[in-house]
Amino acid sequence: MENKNKLAMFGNMNGNAISQDLLYEQAKSLLDTMLDFKELLLSYDCAIKEIKTKFDVLNKEFEVRYQRNPISSIHTRLKSQTSIMEKLSRLGLEMTRDNIEQNLHDIAGIRVICSYVDDIYSIADALIRQADITLISRKDYIKNPKPNGYRSLHLIVSVPIFFSNEVKTVLAEIQIRTIAMDFWASLEHQIKYKKNIKNSGEIAEQLRKCAEVIAYTDRMMKDIRTKIDNEQDEKTEEEIIFEKLKKFDINLG
Ligand code: GTP
Ligand code: MG
Repeated sequence: MENKNKLAMFGNMNGNAISQDLLYEQAKSLLDTMLDFKELLLSYDCAIKEIKTKFDVLNKEFEVRYQRNPISSIHTRLKSQTSIMEKLSRLGLEMTRDNIEQNLHDIAGIRVICSYVDDIYSIADALIRQADITLISRKDYIKNPKPNGYRSLHLIVSVPIFFSNEVKTVLAEIQIRTIAMDFWASLEHQIKYKKNIKNSGEIAEQLRKCAEVIAYTDRMMKDIRTKIDNEQDEKTEEEIIFEKLKKFDINLG
């Protein structure tokens, strides 16, 4: 009621009683739309948290069981409101809840950085196997790199979010790549947004070659790690006990 009075005061300045009510109704509807949008963003933010926790759990499980972390780091981002508006207008769509939910699959973004290529697939499969995760689409830009050299495994998944009065199924985009692929993608991303670069053709070619070198290095690093794993001497009884004891030192936080 107080807000209505405040708006009515505005209306009085124009001396128009009918438009005061109209203004109030419009303001109320705008507020509802904004709150609806805020709730929508909340569900995407929760999807990020759920999925990030799932990856944290997998990483910790690996650490305790096998004393190694398949995940080097995890980065998350909620698409900004400006980017949401930009993408919708690029697609020629109006800014509505339905359009957002049906056409934008990357509002919740999770990027997982692994040390080794084989870990990318193990981690992705372990996530997809989970009962509450549904795989919507999978693009393997590692097996089929983009022409510019971009490599990553992309997944669109849906995850249920349990609110107090409803369960919402929310989509999220997951990009999984190695440290080296991520290094490449961040440089390539910077260049993409720089305008008027001289020799851009030459730079693109250099980047493409760099992506090949990186892919080769990633394969070699994985092979070396596998060799080290396989070529270890048989452990003594004492070493096995000591390794088990060492697991108690792992910080679970
Ligand atoms: P967008 O509409 O841009 O989200 O792409 P898309 O729906 O065609 O999906 P795609 O899987 O190709 O790309 C999704 C996201 O992956 C992009 O938003 C980027 O974050 C990343 N990406 C894809 N291609 C490239 C690339 O060539 N270079 C870099 N640096 N990132 C890329
Ligand atoms: Mg995107």
